[in-house]
Amino acid sequence: MPVTEPDDLRARLDAARSVCVLTGSGISAESGLPTFRGVGGLWRTHRVEELASPQGFARDPLLVWSWYAERRKAHASVEPSPAHFALAALEARIADFTLATQNVDSLHLRAGSRNVLELHGKMREAKCNRCDERRPLDDVLAALDTPDVTLSDPNVILSLSKDGRSPLLHHCGGMWRPDIVWFGEALPAHVLEAAFDAAARAELMLVVGTSGLVQPAASLATKRCTRAYVVEINPEETVLTAHVDRSIRARASDVLPELAR
Ligand code: OAD
Repeated sequence: MPVTEPDDLRARLDAARSVCVLTGSGISAESGLPTFRGVGGLWRTHRVEELASPQGFARDPLLVWSWYAERRKAHASVEPSPAHFALAALEARIADFTLATQNVDSLHLRAGSRNVLELHGKMREAKCNRCDERRPLDDVLAALDTPDVTLSDPNVILSLSKDGRSPLLHHCGGMWRPDIVWFGEALPAHVLEAAFDAAARAELMLVVGTSGLVQPAASLATKRCTRAYVVEINPEETVLTAHVDRSIRARASDVLPELAR
C-alpha cells in the first residue's frame, strides 16, 4: 500500500503473540467527532478547568452536565469508522489483543471490540461523587431533561424538582456526575493496571490518533512500559514520534482497514 508499506507491518502482526493498541481521539475524528487539541478541538474552544475538573463541577454542575449532554448526543449521532471496525477485526484474529483507549465515546465497543480498557472512563455511565454508585448516564440526562428541569436554565438545577430535590442529588448526599476521568483525578486503578500489563506483554503495539500529551496513558507506548515494536499511526508528528520504532504519517482509516484485510 502506497502510504504505509503494510507488508512488513502485516508480517509483524501475524508473528506477534500479543498485541496492544493505544487509541486517542484521532481515531474518532474519522467518525466526525472533534479531537481535543487539533483545529476545532474541544480544548481549543472550551475551558477545560470549568468542564472537566472536580472544582468546575462543584462550581457549576449544570454547566458541566449541559456540556456532557451535548457530547453524549454527538457520540450517539455518529457511527464507528472503518478504523474502529478494523481494530475489532484484528482482535478476532489475535488471541492476546488489548485495546487501551483514551476515548470515552464507546465507538470501539460499538464496532465490536471486546477487550477494551477505557482509561479515561466512559460516557455511558454516571457515578455518585461521594459513594461511587453507578447508573446509566442516560437516566440522569432523562431526569434532567424534564419540563421541570431544563438544561438551559442554570438557576433551576439545584433547587428544583417536585419533591424539592435536584435530580443530581444521590440519596447518600453526593451528586451524580459523568463517569469520566477529569483533570487532577487518577485513572481507574484496575483499568490502568491491566493496560500496563498488556503493554508489558505486547510484542507489537499500535499507537493510533493520540497526541501523546496526556499521562499516564501516553507512557504505555514508551520503552519504560513496553518492549514491543511500537508503530505510531498519525497524520502529524507527536511527542511520541521520536520514541517509537516506526511512525506512519497517515490517517487511521488509511492504514488499519488495509492491515486487517
Ligand atoms: P488530541 O486532540 O490531543 O490528539 C489527537 C491526535 O489525533 C493528534 O495527534 C492528531 O494529529 C491525531 N489525528 C487526527 N486525525 C487523525 C486520523 N484521522 N487518524 C489518526 N490520527 C489522527 O487527543 P488525545 O490524544 O486523544 O482526556 O487526547 C488525550 C486526552 O486529552 C483525552 O482522552 C482527553 C484529553 O484531555 C480526558 O478527557 C481525561
